[in-house]
Amino acid sequence: MRQRTFSIIKPDAVRNGATGAILAEIDKAAFRIVAIRKQTISKPQAEGFYAVHQGKPFFDGLCDFMSSGPLVLMVLEKENAIADLRKLMGATNPANAEEGTIRKRFAASIQENAIHGSDGEDTAAFEIGYWFAGYELI
Ligand code: CMP
Repeated sequence: MRQRTFSIIKPDAVRNGATGAILAEIDKAAFRIVAIRKQTISKPQAEGFYAVHQGKPFFDGLCDFMSSGPLVLMVLEKENAIADLRKLMGATNPANAEEGTIRKRFAASIQENAIHGSDGEDTAAFEIGYWFAGYELI
């Protein structure tokens, strides 16, 4: 089943000049880029996006980090997109990420972990709709 997922190349990876290399990995893994936009988000925008993590000890630092510089918002499509992107990303904590994954190559810490990917169908629908309008997703 063809499926869409939502992804972010996070500010650490953009700052480190890894945007092109991460896009190449995504391309090599046969994802279609449905929509893509580089922008700097505000802290309230980050708080709304990560609302599910509100109250957790890392929430405030995470939202500061996500609003600290430009990032790249993307909607990606392929068969089994949600699970396949998570496999390509590797574990949330790069210390536990497998060889060959994006986080193993590009992430420095559990917070500054280079890339985000939706963790399920409902989350993907919320996250795509949070950042992109329907007319941008054709
Ligand atoms: P992401 O996949 O974007 O989803 C939530 C984010 O919170 C996660 O990647 C990390 O950037 C961050 N995160 C999760 N757990 C921790 C933690 N224990 N400490 C700091 N940041 C975390």
